[in-house]
Amino acid sequence: MDARIIIEGPTRLFGEAEISRSKNAVLPEMAACLLTEEPITLKDIPDLLDVGTMTRILLGMGVQSQSSGGSLTLRAGELSSVKVPYEHAHRMRASVLLMGALLAREGRAELSLPGGCAIGTRPIDLHLKGFASMGAKIEQGEDFIIASGKLRGARVYLDIPSVGATENILLAATLSEGQTMIENAAREPEIIDLCELLRKMGADIRGAGTDMITITGVNRLHGATHRPIADRIEAATYMIAAAATGGDVFLKNANSAHLRSVINKLTACGAKVIDAPNGIRVRASSELSPIYIRTASYPGFPTDAQAQFMALCCLARGTSVITESIFENRFMHVSELRRMGANIRVEDRTAIIEGTQKLFGANVNATDLRAGAAMVIAALCAFGESVIHDPHHIYRGYELIGEKLTRLGAKIKMVE
Ligand code: EPZ
Repeated sequence: MDARIIIEGPTRLFGEAEISRSKNAVLPEMAACLLTEEPITLKDIPDLLDVGTMTRILLGMGVQSQSSGGSLTLRAGELSSVKVPYEHAHRMRASVLLMGALLAREGRAELSLPGGCAIGTRPIDLHLKGFASMGAKIEQGEDFIIASGKLRGARVYLDIPSVGATENILLAATLSEGQTMIENAAREPEIIDLCELLRKMGADIRGAGTDMITITGVNRLHGATHRPIADRIEAATYMIAAAATGGDVFLKNANSAHLRSVINKLTACGAKVIDAPNGIRVRASSELSPIYIRTASYPGFPTDAQAQFMALCCLARGTSVITESIFENRFMHVSELRRMGANIRVEDRTAIIEGTQKLFGANVNATDLRAGAAMVIAALCAFGESVIHDPHHIYRGYELIGEKLTRLGAKIKMVE
């Protein structure tokens, strides 16, 4: 039998869950270890498939790693390879983030074309355009991209405020001669956190969190210790689950400053969101009101919480409208929600959700990480048993999801 998650619903979630450190901060921060020969220690690292994949790629390059007490120490002494191999890269798009650091350190990076979720073509043209404007030579082979050359500072304009391109160019610029300015940079909290680590390593960076980031290259960077920010998307997922199931949940470590748009929409659908010094409490209302969402770059509504919110909208009393403006194919969860009785129609990048009284347990697929999270939320609300197939997508980004939901009262079984 294939691996799956079995959930018996409906269950209202009550109690407390601790939010883990952010996957999307940890992954670029792991890539930063390549920028120095000294050890980089990241504390409270989440136990996620993607962290394991990134570790295996780094080990394959000759990086040494040591885990102890929830911390991960990486030391890029002598590198044995600058190649990101297919067998790992096709599994995780974030492997592209290694290019910038490899280029800056070794003057060469070889990347097998990255993979990742099934949420669109996800090109890396903006990454490569940035490296080229910094003087790198870009060669595209069969299924490899090779970037090589000595980098120097440049003015880089991003046509789209791409999170990954901003991070990649940032990493490359820290050791490049001269000044690099990234215009129309992404402003996500994970980028601010990456810059925190880079500054601790001795990098000269100004404007993190704004759309103009200026990096002045330095000759060398040194080791550092850093505790990444809490995972705002994991927090959003549990907040939405609390509201959707009619529960009352406290999320320890959740940072409301990173969740303003999600809190705004949860309040609009009737939930009560209470900000506490060390977390956020979400108390559901007796009835869910329909809402309108348009995803956007930070600080707009996060595309990574869109699928989860759609699961909630299936039970709102009225018509909700969700427009996905970041990825061209991020509605894979619609057909799966329909199997549970949801009434959703899609017109191009907009989904119109007619709320229904009930959802029913069904066999569904986790088509990508956040769609998988939406299936979990829908299954918690649905009447009867749901079986979620391909759960490895979910394990890529949700640490201890079975234990955390069980503690909140869910009837959930993880079958390997
Ligand atoms: C990061 O992906 C996140 N991943 C994604 O989270 C998140 O959905 C995304 O940012 C948007 O917030 C990590 O941080 C590891 P982008 P990334 O470059 O960097 C287009 C999750 O669920 N684009 O900001 O790949 C691209 O196709 C994951 O944890 C280009 O056209 O996203 C997309 O339409 C899923 N050319 C848009 O920009 C490029 O060179 C935004 O992509 C790069 C991107």
